[in-house]
Amino acid sequence: MDAIRIRGARPLYGTIPVGGAKNAALPILCATLLSDGDSLLRNVPGLRDIDTTAALLRFLGREVRVDIPEVRVARATQPARPEAPYELVRQMRASVLVLGPLVARYGKAKVSLPGGCAIGARPVDQHLKGLEALGAKIRVEHGYVVAEAPRLRGNEISFDMPTVTGTENLMMAAALAKGRSTLVNCAREPEVEELGRVLNKMGATVEGAGTDTIIITGRDELAPFDHAIIADRIEAGTFLAAVGAAGGDVLVDGAPYDDLEPVIAKLRKAGMELEREGEGIRARRLGPIRGVNVTTAPHPGFPTDMQAQLMAMMCRCEGQSVLTETIFENRFMHVPELVRMGADIETRNNTAIVTGVPRLSGASVMATDLRASASLVIAGLVAEGETTVRRVYHLDRGYERIERKLAAVGADIERVREEPAS
Ligand code: EPU
Repeated sequence: MDAIRIRGARPLYGTIPVGGAKNAALPILCATLLSDGDSLLRNVPGLRDIDTTAALLRFLGREVRVDIPEVRVARATQPARPEAPYELVRQMRASVLVLGPLVARYGKAKVSLPGGCAIGARPVDQHLKGLEALGAKIRVEHGYVVAEAPRLRGNEISFDMPTVTGTENLMMAAALAKGRSTLVNCAREPEVEELGRVLNKMGATVEGAGTDTIIITGRDELAPFDHAIIADRIEAGTFLAAVGAAGGDVLVDGAPYDDLEPVIAKLRKAGMELEREGEGIRARRLGPIRGVNVTTAPHPGFPTDMQAQLMAMMCRCEGQSVLTETIFENRFMHVPELVRMGADIETRNNTAIVTGVPRLSGASVMATDLRASASLVIAGLVAEGETTVRRVYHLDRGYERIERKLAAVGADIERVREEPAS
C-alpha cells in the first residue's frame, strides 16, 4: 500500500497548478445518463472517484473513455439494469447521483443505500423526498432504494436543509420531468451552479442555480454536451493552507478567487497575504499565523471540506483558534493524529479548540477520510523530522498527485510503497 513520506519544516516557493473540481465532475458525469449520444468532459482531474464513476457508467451501459484531462461518454445502449450496485456505492457515496438521472430517463432506478461513512451518518432522505414530490414511487428493500415513475412531473420541492448532492440529484431529475419544478432552500455551492450550466447546454431551462431557489423547465429529451469543468476550489484552498502552514510565496495557478472568498477572508485574518494574480491566487506567509475562529456552513460560508486543512495550519498559530463543525457530526478524525504530532487540540462536541504550539514533530499517521488526510500532509510539511501519512488511497480519491505538486514548490515529499506489516 502506498504512503506519503514528508520531511518537513521547509517553506514553499513557486507555482502549483489547480485541477478540475472533483465535486463538479462527479454530478456532470452522472448527467451524461440523461441523454444519448457522445458527451465530452474536459479539465477532468485524474482521481480515484472519477474512475469509480466511470466504472458505474460502464455498468449502466455507457462506453466511457478516461483520458485525463478528458472523459468521453459514448452512445448509450439500454442498461441491462438501471442499477448502482453496493460494490460501487460503497466505494463512493456520490454514486447516489445516478438515482435522479436513472429514474427520469428509464422510469426505474435501483441504487444501493450508501450507509454511514467516516465523517457522519449522511442520510439521503432529502433526495428521496424530492423524487417522491416529482411523482416517483419509492421503496427501500434489501439495502437498495427502488424508485419508479413512468414519467416524472414537475413540482415544488422544499429541502429541509441545503444538500449539495440532493440539490444536484433533483436538478437532473427535474430536467427530464414534464413541466416546471421549483426547488427551494437549495445548496448554493459553485458545483451546483456548474451543473446548472451543463443542464442548460443539454437543452433544459435552469434558472437560479447558485441561489437558494432553482426553477427548472424539463424537456422530453436532452442533448449530449461538451464542457470544461471549473477549477477545484477545495484543492486550491488546500494549497493556500499549505503555504499558510509551511510559509513561503506560491502562485496557486487557476485557484478560483471568487469561489474561495470565505476561505480567503479567514486566511487573511490569520495573517496570510493573498491576492489575485492572473487566473490564480498568490499566497504568502512571511510572519507568524494568528489564531482565528471558524464555523463551517453551507456555501457561501466556510466550507466543511476545508476545516481539517485549516486546523492543521492553526496548530502552530499564535494564541488560540476555535473551529466549529456544523455540517458533519464526525469530522474531527484528524484531531488525534495531529495531537500525536504534538498539536494541542481539545474537542468539545462539534468544537475544537486549537492552542498554538511552537513546533510539531513528524510521526507515522493515518486518516480515514479525504480531507483529514490532506490535513495530515499539511501538518507533515511543517513538522520537524519525518512524517509518514498512511492510507493514501483516501488522498487519491480527491487530490491528483498531491506529492508531485508539493514537491515542485520545494517540499521534501514522496510517495513510497510500504510492505504490509506481517
Ligand atoms: N443531509 C441529510 N439528508 C439528506 C442529505 C443531506 O440530512 O438527504 C445532511 C447531511 O447529513 C449533512 C448536510 O445535510 O449534515 C449536508 O450534506 P450534503 O448533502 O450537502 O453533502 P453531500 O452532498 O453528501 C457534498 C460533497 C462533500 C461535502 C458536502 C458539504 C460531493 C460529491 N460531496 O456531499 O464533499 O463535504 O457536500 O459541502 O459533492 C469531499 O469532497 O471531501 C466531500 C466530503
